[in-house]
Amino acid sequence: METIIVKKSGALNGHLKVNGSKNSILPILAASLLTKDKCILHEIPKLEDVNVMCNLLSKLGAKINRLDDNSLEIHAENITNYEAPYDLISKMRASFLVMGSLLSRVNKARVSMPGGCAIGTRPIDLHLKGFKNLNININSNRGYIQAETEGITGNHVYLDFPSVGATENLMMAACRAKGKTVIENCAEEPEIVDLANFINSMGAKIEGAGTKTITVTGVEELHGTEYTIIPDRIEAGTYMVAAVLTGGELHIDNVIPAHVQPVIAKLREVGAEIIENDSSVVVRSKGIINSTDIKTLPYPGFPTDMQAQFMLLLSLANGTSIINETIFENRFMHANEFLRMGANIKIEGNTAVVNGLNGLTGAKVRATDLRAGAALVLAGLVAEGETEISEVHHIKRGYADIVEKLQTVGADISYSMQ
Ligand code: EPZ
Repeated sequence: METIIVKKSGALNGHLKVNGSKNSILPILAASLLTKDKCILHEIPKLEDVNVMCNLLSKLGAKINRLDDNSLEIHAENITNYEAPYDLISKMRASFLVMGSLLSRVNKARVSMPGGCAIGTRPIDLHLKGFKNLNININSNRGYIQAETEGITGNHVYLDFPSVGATENLMMAACRAKGKTVIENCAEEPEIVDLANFINSMGAKIEGAGTKTITVTGVEELHGTEYTIIPDRIEAGTYMVAAVLTGGELHIDNVIPAHVQPVIAKLREVGAEIIENDSSVVVRSKGIINSTDIKTLPYPGFPTDMQAQFMLLLSLANGTSIINETIFENRFMHANEFLRMGANIKIEGNTAVVNGLNGLTGAKVRATDLRAGAALVLAGLVAEGETEISEVHHIKRGYADIVEKLQTVGADISYSMQ
């Protein structure tokens, strides 16, 4: 079994480059099914999740060529299959995003229900309710969603919760519909804007992405395009926390500061100095970690994908911090792992009370999801002695080359085969 071994390292100093966004590339790969033409994508992160999505697209009939280390070409000239099987969907729930583009392209889709995962039940009711509003018949049997339509027709959809995935699936279903679709109370994440920009570069008419209301005017056909994915704001935030945690200074390149404002604001509250440049940030520790409170919210609120990293940082703060997780019902599993390293954290429902200490001790720990895994890597950098992290496949889903990158800025970290 592969593990990551992290030893107490000094301050991290130097330059790191952020990859393209995992949560952008996955919906954009699904959207490449919307056209018969070729799409060329740049800044593709080398992640297992990208391989899973490419594997699924191939099974649906797309031809995929790796052009170079960071670029690939997808050509979905013919859709030869409209079923997304359980074994792929269960590996990565984002595969469910092919539903909107399959329905738009071939008016039918048979997609395995994604099922829950460690951080929550992850239902898809908002996706399905929206599809039904667009003249799509939905049935479910034997764990699959069977969807088909005589033709998608635009309509008004209100999302009870600004679900990222539901917003993305509905945008893809609506872009070639007859008439106009209004998606109200939609997600506003930068990845939603990236997906809308990608589909618009194919000739779609999507307006309002990045606001609470998106309007999609259906068009007949979409053509091929060449597109560069936005940087990964969560990978960036993770390395920003590492700089403050270890008392160092990191120049983090390929960052859109506007996308990491909640993280910048909270790190400044904690006592760090942050310089925002056009496409990079410099994060400098001032040798202190103040306590502060965190409440995760849909964008532009504080991102739930940064909650584990901040729980760790605040475990070493001078004082008590309160963390309120409002997005997922079970996203505190990393707390148990931090407790094994000596942290002082009390969980009450979706609230964590974090009493800051002045040290952690290394231990054998387990990554419970990809963000928790990344937070455990950071924990190992400051814990006394050695920390061994298992279930590292979670980490590889969202952090390309995390071991190699951290080594370049002074971390004592390596892979190990048990
Ligand atoms: C996306 O997941 C991200 N994944 C997640 O990142 C991220 O944590 C999440 O958005 C929230 O920002 C990708 O983009 C691939 P949601 P998604 O639909 O789309 C409930 C990571 O670490 N909900 O916005 O699945 C749901 O249960 C991953 O990179 C419904 O109730 O998130 C959850 O409580 C983890 N019904 C909340 O909404 C639905 O039909 C947010 O889910 C859909 C969602």
